[in-house]
Amino acid sequence: MNIAVISYSYTGNNEALAGSVAKALSAEHIQISEARSRTMGSIALDMILSRTPLVHPAPETIGNYDFILFFGPVWMGHVAAPLRVYLKYLKSHPQRYGFLSISGGADGTNPKLTGDLRKRAGADPAVLIDLHIADLLPNSPKTARKDTSAYRLTDGDINQLTHTMMKKLREVI
Ligand SMILES: Cc1cc2nc3c(=O)[nH]c(=O)nc-3n(C[C@H](O)[C@H](O)[C@H](O)COP(=O)(O)O)c2cc1C
Repeated sequence: MNIAVISYSYTGNNEALAGSVAKALSAEHIQISEARSRTMGSIALDMILSRTPLVHPAPETIGNYDFILFFGPVWMGHVAAPLRVYLKYLKSHPQRYGFLSISGGADGTNPKLTGDLRKRAGADPAVLIDLHIADLLPNSPKTARKDTSAYRLTDGDINQLTHTMMKKLREVI
């Protein structure tokens, strides 16, 4: 099967994990970059106004694969805005896809993710794996958003998370 791992990352976590999973799958890893530099302010505006930022490569790039595995952060409970144009492409060019993320998890699970993916891609993902930084950190005192947002995955974390993701991915690939 011709699998593409396509990742967007603001602070590096999802890029590092996507690279490791792509290697384990012997899949191509495509990294998304943005035309404008990203700030906390533009994250908030894109998410609140549901804007779709300009990104590279063009969405047609994913048309060459049988299975697309998207990686990216969760922002404000939803898939990060830079992945939107690719999800929209799937609406007119249906393909099997999955969404994988290492998100913060300081406020628990992200229950709106499936609905967001369904709305934007026009179909449910074949696999959705949302792992949490909060589960990598000691639980006492209670993990705060600022702790998860400041956390950068270590090599050990990446190995452990890759193993967890690969176990689930093998069930669907
Ligand atoms: C503005 C902002 C909003 C966020 N919202 C959420 C959220 O709703 N749920 C969650 O689990 N994590 C949330 N996070 C945490 C990120 O998903 C987490 O830090 C992720 O690992 C960052 O990935 P990256 O390094 O690939 O950019 C948020 C982070 C930022 C900066």
